[in-house]
Amino acid sequence: MKGVPLTEELYKYITDTFIHEDEILKQIVIDTEAKKIPLIQVSPETGKLLGMFIKMIGAKSVLEIGTLTGYSTIWMARALPPEGKVVTLELTKAHADEALSNYKKAGLDGKIELILGKAIESLDTLSSRKFDLVFIDADKENCVNYFNKVIHMVRSGGLIITDNTLRRGEVIELNPGPGAQGIIAYNKLVANDSRIESLLVPIDDGITLSYVK
Ligand SMILES: C[S@@+](CC[C@H](N)C(=O)[O-])C[C@H]1O[C@@H](n2cnc3c(N)ncnc32)[C@H](O)[C@@H]1O
Repeated sequence: MKGVPLTEELYKYITDTFIHEDEILKQIVIDTEAKKIPLIQVSPETGKLLGMFIKMIGAKSVLEIGTLTGYSTIWMARALPPEGKVVTLELTKAHADEALSNYKKAGLDGKIELILGKAIESLDTLSSRKFDLVFIDADKENCVNYFNKVIHMVRSGGLIITDNTLRRGEVIELNPGPGAQGIIAYNKLVANDSRIESLLVPIDDGITLSYVK
């Protein structure tokens, strides 16, 4: 194996040294669990990396597919300049209501637009909009469909980032489930599409990063 296997101790070293999750973000995780909403938000290090990508490419407009209770939206909205905006798409009303309340608590409600409904349909209403960065983190079966829609909506020099692209290792199993099959198809597609340059980065459950040429 190339590289250093990430032990618990090394992971703790990285997060202790580099990740400073504030009380608002910590409370979102506590409240999400208390409301029996699945704890499937990005890791703090992925949240921080998303924010750093936003700063590195000078992003002002971000599209997120899969809001949950707003944890990743908040990392991204905080990284944007004052005039920057995030549009986030969510299917489940209980998740969306909690996210809207969290945006208010974080003082970011003016920077975030949440669209409730099936993402595939919401994307059609947004098809004439341009975004600097798209973060895909909803139903994994639809990743290829989301990519085919958003590739026309990202400016040259922008990024498309998809979460859970290692699927906890299921991507190399003999009989992957439907979610992992969606991810396998997605990784294969973006690895071979000449409009973009892509790499799977093994942070947390894996993110696949695509640079739009
Ligand atoms: C992994 S969670 C998102 C986590 C969030 N990005 C974060 O890190 O805080 C996935 C979310 O996508 C939503 N979702 C699933 N299928 C969807 C669909 N077809 N359209 C829109 N949202 C969907 C789920 O309800 C869930 O809230």
